[in-house]
Amino acid sequence: MPAASRTPSDDNWVRRLAAYRLSPLAFRRVSLFAVWSLGFIIVTGAAVRLTGSGLGCTDWPACTHNDLVSPWQYHALVEFGNRIVTGVVSVVLLAAVPLSALRRPRRSDLTWLSWGLFAGLPAEIVLGGEVVRHNLDPPYVMAHFLFSLVLLALGVALYHRSGFEDGPLDGRGRARRPGTPSPLVSRAQLILGRLLPPAAGVVIFLGTIVTSTGPHGGAPTAPRFHLSLHDVAKLHSSAVWGFLGLSVFTLWRMYRSGAPAEVMRRGETLMVVLVCQGAVGYLQYFSGVPAWLVEIHVTLAATLWVFVLLFALGLTTRPVLVAPANVASRPVADPVDTLLAPA
Ligand code: HEM
Repeated sequence: MPAASRTPSDDNWVRRLAAYRLSPLAFRRVSLFAVWSLGFIIVTGAAVRLTGSGLGCTDWPACTHNDLVSPWQYHALVEFGNRIVTGVVSVVLLAAVPLSALRRPRRSDLTWLSWGLFAGLPAEIVLGGEVVRHNLDPPYVMAHFLFSLVLLALGVALYHRSGFEDGPLDGRGRARRPGTPSPLVSRAQLILGRLLPPAAGVVIFLGTIVTSTGPHGGAPTAPRFHLSLHDVAKLHSSAVWGFLGLSVFTLWRMYRSGAPAEVMRRGETLMVVLVCQGAVGYLQYFSGVPAWLVEIHVTLAATLWVFVLLFALGLTTRPVLVAPANVASRPVADPVDTLLAPA
């Protein structure tokens, strides 16, 4: 805008935008928003597959060779609608993530995690395009789903770390990373607890093999793995029993040694999600995998992933971020508390 045609109120607006800074608390809210958005994308993506709309649009990013947007057909509308919804959420996320540069003081661990998300999202979008181009070939669908959980893990780590107080400022006014973490449980329990996310990863990976073998490929023509659904579901559920055993053993050891209440509370939340997920898993298997139950199963899988990560991350602590007394009166470092009841 030529300087002559700028009004004082324009100047004010531009100056205010340029001077905009994000407080640590506001940044924490942005990271919570990122976690919810990434979860939302996973749930709506599953809905596309489960309504058999995976090839509703045969091209990407346009819907078909001839149509930029979807024609007035059910599957095309579902698939294209999801592209628009997830596109908008991704754009908002892409815009929100660089806000780490506006956080004052800046902190390198948060900046790195934010940029990891920033780079990962377009990669996930391109992978989504490859899924369509390869006619829903299972390895592409699996990679797309599993990569979305990697992004979710980055979001959870960002949210978790943004709850800790900044380290001291360096010469350039940037905060150092938060201090050394102090364990809340014994070393053996810490190792056990940290084994839970990889164990959940194995269960989830096997779940995607079951899906790739089962009836919900995303379209009637989608290729399937030529495996026995019974055998792969048995393998998947055996891994679930192993995971359940490890979780119970870990929590029992923690309970016996008097682990802090917040650790036990996160563990209990994890157990509740795990038991519900197991029940839904068996129910869907014995009722012929109805799509609506599979949608719940996928939603719970993403939820369980978040809670198992929060549990493992919450086994150590650092000084927590405390809201200024005039904004809010309680610390905001407990991820489970805030996820369940965002302030
Ligand atoms: C910790 C518990 C569990 C987790 C985290 C889990 C996770 C998953 C995941 C991530 C998928 C793939 C979803 C997709 O690719 O879109 C899946 C599929 C599946 N799971 Fe589980 N699962 C669990 C328990 C169980 C149990 C106990 C059973 C019982 C047999 C079960 C049966 C199935 C079946 C049949 C499918 C395929 C559904 C389809 O056709 O798409 N799951 N599971």
